[in-house]
Amino acid sequence: MCGIVGGVAQRNIVPILLEGLKRLEYRGYDSAGLAVINNQTLFRKRELGKVKGLEALLQVDPIFGPIGIAHTRWATHGKPSTENAHPHVSSNKVAVVHNGIIENHEPLRGALIDEGYLFTSETDTEVIVHQLYQTMEHTQGFLKAVKLMVKKLEGAYALGIICTEEPDTLIACRKGSPLVIGVGIGEYFIASDVAALLPVTQRFIFLEEGDIASISIDKLIIYDANDEVVTRPVKESQLTADSVDKGDYRHYMLKEIYEQPFAISQALEGRFINNRLQENCFGHKAAEVFDTIKSIQILACGTSYHAGLVARYWFERLARVPCNIEVASEFRYRNPVLAENTLIVTISQSGETADTLAALQEAKRLGAKYSLAICNVPESSLVRESDLVLMTRAGPEIGVASTKAFTTQLTALMLLVIAVGRRFELTEAMEQKISSDLFKLPRKIEAVLKLDDQIKVLAEQFAEKEHALFLGRGSHYPIAMEGALKLKEISYIHAEAYPAGELKHGPLALIDSEMPVITVAPNNSLLEKLKSNIQEVSARGGQLIVFMDETLASAASENVQIIKVPQVENEISPIIYTIPLQLLSYYVAVLKGTDVDQPRNLAKSVTVE
Ligand code: F6R
Repeated sequence: MCGIVGGVAQRNIVPILLEGLKRLEYRGYDSAGLAVINNQTLFRKRELGKVKGLEALLQVDPIFGPIGIAHTRWATHGKPSTENAHPHVSSNKVAVVHNGIIENHEPLRGALIDEGYLFTSETDTEVIVHQLYQTMEHTQGFLKAVKLMVKKLEGAYALGIICTEEPDTLIACRKGSPLVIGVGIGEYFIASDVAALLPVTQRFIFLEEGDIASISIDKLIIYDANDEVVTRPVKESQLTADSVDKGDYRHYMLKEIYEQPFAISQALEGRFINNRLQENCFGHKAAEVFDTIKSIQILACGTSYHAGLVARYWFERLARVPCNIEVASEFRYRNPVLAENTLIVTISQSGETADTLAALQEAKRLGAKYSLAICNVPESSLVRESDLVLMTRAGPEIGVASTKAFTTQLTALMLLVIAVGRRFELTEAMEQKISSDLFKLPRKIEAVLKLDDQIKVLAEQFAEKEHALFLGRGSHYPIAMEGALKLKEISYIHAEAYPAGELKHGPLALIDSEMPVITVAPNNSLLEKLKSNIQEVSARGGQLIVFMDETLASAASENVQIIKVPQVENEISPIIYTIPLQLLSYYVAVLKGTDVDQPRNLAKSVTVE
């Protein structure tokens, strides 16, 4: 998704902007650009494609300046092209970078065209810059004009704006899209997330909804949504510039797959005493909220939604807690009925997913009293807007395909199952058993990661395939869904997941010797049923790859390959079976030569609807 970097410094800002853009690459983008002001003149460079293309352009034709804004664009309005890349400018005096969507851009554009403004792009963003220039023609001062201009905008935006008439001031605005201010020594920066600015500062101010900041070298003034001057706290980030490095790994995704034992140990750290969960880890109001609730409604998107699907099995099977789950983008427009005393549980790696945030708002509008966020980004919008929070502590996840964020979400969700389940039918003995199993996870995952070489070989069978099916049953059906999502998003192989029992109701027609069928087969009460489903595929010549518990007798044959997964306790087994599927997608994508960490068309943090 679009990324913003900007700054006012006592040095040339261009290398800082470029480094910031590189650190935002993981969000997904199709073009990049930057603009600086030097001696009251605006200079701009834009390029279709990667930041290194922009960098090459700047090497040939450099620009300099102490104040500037930069952007990676993820196309929404208008195709990826140099003309549509940000910054957008008006009369070569004002330049804007934007993350979000201006919903009323069409009427604004029409009115500006009528006034003679010439549009050079198809973007919604270009209306912002012309609207600002038009406002400045009748208004004294850059800041005042920005404040008037944003009143005309409907939709979501994070903005970085510079203007040659006040060449020492950078203005930042936030409404519906995240923006942070980095506090340097005698300099300030802005960015869509802290990762962009870690080489220059670890001190951050998180702008709130409706904030407008006027920033110069020696002065930062923040106005809130009511135009009052406010002081926002400066927070010290625990992250360092190195924490988002790839190290010796070929891709972030592989690094993040391998980080899972540590990430899960972090997710558990300090949250149990003697195998008893300390429920204040959800926040100081946790006990009061959990005592009241009668059911759970989970809202999330993509991989986070899959984590929620697993949790529904856990909530209902282990604790008899009624649990619903819905994709956030559907929930927000369905006008659903919410039972009284339902706890809204949102799950999001980034905490900035527009659909999930909107679904939470919708749940509140429908009368939900309590909300809980499972999230990986401490200062994110979702965290701020929820009553209770459980941080997943996965550490920064840079690969667009979610891996460690997913398994730590599952871990966190199991803690929630315990906390709520205690008030239902989850006994102390069950809690002790689940806790001790959770603490075994890091070692178990280390053992599963040893399948790496075997899976690398297996991946070779996929390089030429166009389709794949994933099967699972019970709480492993969402793991099959997650396996299919990983494969399609990074290798571009079309993949579908089915609950194995559903196969005979239609998808069996797809089975032939060209169709790989990946099956998740842990040793649980559904195994015998699953074996029958495997037979159905095998009898029709399908190419089966079965991830199976090592303790089970295997029946490999010409068209059935068995991958033995280390034995694992029943409840936590969905977390374990995720790992080989992540590795499989990864190695297939590497063989296909795709852009593993930044797959085409995708964004890491989906801040638009
Ligand atoms: C897939 C993936 C996405 C995200 C989805 C929600 O690998 O990462 O499906 O899970 O866009 O994002 P978050 O979790 O940030 O709300």
